[in-house]
Amino acid sequence: MTGFRKVVIPAAGLGTRLLPVTKSVPKEMLPVVDRPMLQYAVDEAIESGCDEIILVTGPGKEAISDYYPADATLEERIRFPSKESLPHMPSRAARISHVFQQDPMGLGHAICQARGSVGEETFAVVLCDDIILHKVSCLRQLKTVQEAHGGCILAVMEVPRNQIPCYGIVAAEPLEDAEQGQLYRVLDLVEKPSVQDAPSDLAIVGRYLLTPSIFEILDQTEPSAGGEVQLTDGLRELLREEPIYAYRFQGDRYDAGDKLGFLMANLAVGLQRKELSSSLRQHLASLKISLR
Ligand code: G1P
Repeated sequence: MTGFRKVVIPAAGLGTRLLPVTKSVPKEMLPVVDRPMLQYAVDEAIESGCDEIILVTGPGKEAISDYYPADATLEERIRFPSKESLPHMPSRAARISHVFQQDPMGLGHAICQARGSVGEETFAVVLCDDIILHKVSCLRQLKTVQEAHGGCILAVMEVPRNQIPCYGIVAAEPLEDAEQGQLYRVLDLVEKPSVQDAPSDLAIVGRYLLTPSIFEILDQTEPSAGGEVQLTDGLRELLREEPIYAYRFQGDRYDAGDKLGFLMANLAVGLQRKELSSSLRQHLASLKISLR
């Protein structure tokens, strides 16, 4: 089966890179302009045409279930007076469900918690601190590639060499240009390698289309980097059985889970908003920032 109906959004992490605010506010609920970071992921999932969004939450994340109550459709989910007050709301509905990860034991472990909800079908994973802005959403770009090639598809981008140790890195051989991006066949993957050991500068960012075979593998995957069960390690194992493709997507990506990336995401989204853009531009110009 190509395409996907379900999107898993892990939201149980500790948000340590954004401390101290994340001591009491879940990272996923921090506003980027006027919406929680999580909403960009949920809206992207809806826009991609999915039927169900599975949020993996954890202790101290009650604000997420207040904002996105389980089993509500998106139209019902917030106590806003009318639909007119939510002009940005996607017009179609998707079911929201929650699964719980008691201890943050890594991305691979978080995804495993959604196994019962996903079942035996291809599904998507969206990491909400990777905010990607483009007229065609990153998830939709991956969906188009998956419809043509099947298998698992990972979103990748080139990163500066000094940032390599922050990412899962792929060794990959280029295939043809797909649409506007570049498609690769993955040959190997490694989570957060040193600059010297990295097979390339192609980093995995937070959009994945995965076949359900990953669940059985993740169940058996031992914790590695940082004492956590890494999705990248599971994918490395899956590569022995199934092809994995990497797609260098189009769009501007911001790591909103990091202080600088969070600020940049706010500026980028603000500059895109009709009601804010011209005043924000004027303000930025008035700062006369020296680039030296
Ligand atoms: C996770 C993944 C990593 C990926 C990154 C993208 O790392 O483990 O492979 O490159 O997301 O944002 P984290 O940011 O949770 O440390």
